[in-house]
Amino acid sequence: MVDARTRVFAVIGSPVEHSLSPQMHNASFAELGLNCIYVAHRVEAGELKDAVAGFKALKYGGVNVTLPHKQAVLSYVSELSDEARAIGAVNTLEFRKSRVVGHNTDGVGALNALREAGVEVDKKRVLIIGAGGAARAIAITLAMRCDVAGITLLGRRKEKLIALARDVERAGAGVTTALLGDDLRSVVEESDIVIHATPVGMHPRTDETLLRAEHLASKPVVMDIVYTPRETLLLREAKRAGCKTIDGVGMLVHQGAEAERIWLGVEPGVEAMRRAVLEALEDG
Ligand SMILES: NC(=O)c1ccc[n+]([C@@H]2O[C@H](COP(=O)([O-])OP(=O)(O)OC[C@H]3O[C@@H](n4cnc5c(N)ncnc54)[C@H](OP(=O)(O)O)[C@@H]3O)[C@@H](O)[C@H]2O)c1
Repeated sequence: MVDARTRVFAVIGSPVEHSLSPQMHNASFAELGLNCIYVAHRVEAGELKDAVAGFKALKYGGVNVTLPHKQAVLSYVSELSDEARAIGAVNTLEFRKSRVVGHNTDGVGALNALREAGVEVDKKRVLIIGAGGAARAIAITLAMRCDVAGITLLGRRKEKLIALARDVERAGAGVTTALLGDDLRSVVEESDIVIHATPVGMHPRTDETLLRAEHLASKPVVMDIVYTPRETLLLREAKRAGCKTIDGVGMLVHQGAEAERIWLGVEPGVEAMRRAVLEALEDG
């Protein structure tokens, strides 16, 4: 029951109405028997500063930040975790007395999704497709937290790939870049794990994929971070090639689970979170 002691958490973004975070976190809070509630607030760019000040004043338990505020919110935090600083974006705000600490749990979410599926990243060659916010968070987190054998960044724009490669190298991993026009089969052959981090294949354009079964003949593990649909065309192609596959729900659940560890210092109800996400996805 919501009462005068209930701790409030939220996600902010614009739009935010599609977010699955409320269902996911409320399911975990219920599972753990915590007097907490998680809501969504639509916040426009010009309102971000006031929103963060408001959360502080109202003593929110924690806040997630989604598009388009993940970078802009850097201006309103008092400090950053090492990862958030290296990534240059924040998806989780922690309120510590008068300070606001910015974290980024997207990369850890992807790493824990791989580990949950029994995939170890140390000593592995990882191919990341994309050079946007999610690709950046994943590449930098793997470079900081794991002993990868190397990271290849595959995308469509050379300059953007080179800029990201520089930051990933600074974070501690050896990096190469490749372009989508290159011989994709040989790029994939040099990788043990492929992580797709572009919107290609996402609803409603579900008949698109950047890699086909013939590119995946070397059978790397394939993770697609797109989760609408849960089984993308890329994952179907990867299955056809005989690869182990991991869908995007794991990353979504684990980035949220990591936020709860930061806010509450508890082990989150990961299975309840996953059930809530899957139910919400089924309901469409
Ligand atoms: N499972 C999860 O928890 C989770 C978390 C975050 C994001 N996601 C999903 O991951 C996807 C990417 O998110 P994001 O935040 O990184 O987006 P973003 O910052 O907009 O970056 C998108 C990246 O994809 C590339 N791209 C877009 N269309 C492409 C195409 N047709 N061919 C080749 N490359 C293309 C872009 O290339 P350019 O750089 O050339 O523009 C850019 O590098 C989205 O579908 C999002 O829903 C999932």
